[in-house]
Amino acid sequence: MTFKHFIYKHIILDQIGSTNSYLHGLNLVTKQKNGTIISAKNQTLGKGQKGNIWLTKKGKNLTFSILTYPRLKPKHAFYLNIIAALAVQKALSDLSISAKIKWPNDILVNKKKIGGILIENQINSEIITQSIIGIGLNVNQSKFASELNATSILNEGKSVEIEDVLDQIYGYLDFYYNLLLESNFKLLLKLYYSKLFWHNQIGFFEDDQSQFKALVMGISDIGLLELRLLDDTTRHYDIKDVKFIY
Ligand code: BTN
Repeated sequence: MTFKHFIYKHIILDQIGSTNSYLHGLNLVTKQKNGTIISAKNQTLGKGQKGNIWLTKKGKNLTFSILTYPRLKPKHAFYLNIIAALAVQKALSDLSISAKIKWPNDILVNKKKIGGILIENQINSEIITQSIIGIGLNVNQSKFASELNATSILNEGKSVEIEDVLDQIYGYLDFYYNLLLESNFKLLLKLYYSKLFWHNQIGFFEDDQSQFKALVMGISDIGLLELRLLDDTTRHYDIKDVKFIY
């Protein structure tokens, strides 16, 4: 397998706390190349967005992390979310599963969460020198606690090998990573908007003050959610400050 930027190396673990943390630690001890993947059949302390735990059923789902050295300006950090979300969305679309990206990077199918992404960057001298892109995707799990409002590839009616889905995502990530290194921000944003949940639509939100309706305008230069309220004011939100109600 050859890729534009990634050098394929895949370490498969039976069980680990978090593939993101393991990859970070491994890279401190032995420098790994751009594109190294760590996947785990079971993750016991999976990290999610906003300090949440990412729960997964042993051997049923994809939990993996990819190491990259993007050398991006920190103001472009959000584009790493964009390329990861697009890669997962595209791999699902190849399975005829139509997924949307809920800002910043939740992957939804019919409003149910099928996957999530956690990106951990290292910034040195105003450059993102290292980015660990962690992806959790529900593949063969059939039962979820109802409050999770989750689904899986299996529950969407498709039967696939977990490894094959990883390979697809990896290939697409290399493709979108190339667009990113070419500074093709405009195209990436256009692709992201074409899959963005509620884009150009009125949605229902909650912040620390109230619940409100607003038009999803898109994202700001630095990846904040840009909402236009019904009184025509514009607000920008960071991930921990707003909740989608759907
Ligand atoms: C989310 O909260 O939506 C993000 C979930 C990200 C989970 C993945 S699973 C593989 C990688 N390792 C982790 O500890 N987290 C990410």
